[in-house]
Amino acid sequence: MELFLDTANLDEIREALSLGVISGVTTNPTLIAKERVDYKERILKICELVSPGPVSVEVLSQDAEGMYKEAMEYASWAPNVVIKVPVVKEGLKALKLMHAAKIKTNVTLVFSLNQALLAAISGATYASPFVGRLDDVGHDGMELISQIVAVYGLHDFPTKVIAASIRHPLHVVQAASVGAHIATIPFSVLEGMLKHPLTDIGVKRFLDDWQKVKELLEKK
Ligand code: G3P
Repeated sequence: MELFLDTANLDEIREALSLGVISGVTTNPTLIAKERVDYKERILKICELVSPGPVSVEVLSQDAEGMYKEAMEYASWAPNVVIKVPVVKEGLKALKLMHAAKIKTNVTLVFSLNQALLAAISGATYASPFVGRLDDVGHDGMELISQIVAVYGLHDFPTKVIAASIRHPLHVVQAASVGAHIATIPFSVLEGMLKHPLTDIGVKRFLDDWQKVKELLEKK
């Protein structure tokens, strides 16, 4: 299983990369808007930092032709760009063109098994079911991840499942347990995965005990 970082914030990306556990980044228009920076400039910087790891960049057009045009442009920015396409009619039309042009794709806003099937049949490189947003409306987001992983496996689809809209460390544990290939996580969730009070207490106790012995030895 791999972890991607779901952010457009450079400090978070640098910090997460320095830990050596992040192999890609996913962005969306909301995440980039939060940064109040130029779209292209920020994507170029992220691609440089994350290279050769994949960086998902979402199209903003509403029609297939526009989406494809955007995809061609974004794909020319860096070799590790992956085009994020919403699973709507125009998105499927655009995916067909991107697949033919050998552009890597991440089908986003997946909320059902049927949508995930359409993504795989369209030749998507990745499909991103939104776990947290399904949980928000009273559906079991992780159950959907589990179904998609099983069905993709049953039919040998090479499309990788990215568990997205991850809200807390338990989502990561569950995504790993049901076989998601990737979880894309906010920086706060990455920090949460690492945190355990017993680890902090243990580190402090080891240091305190060693310090006591050191002082005794120095007195001798
Ligand atoms: O990866 C998708 C993610 O950015 C959406 O997360 O928390 O807005 O549902 P959220």
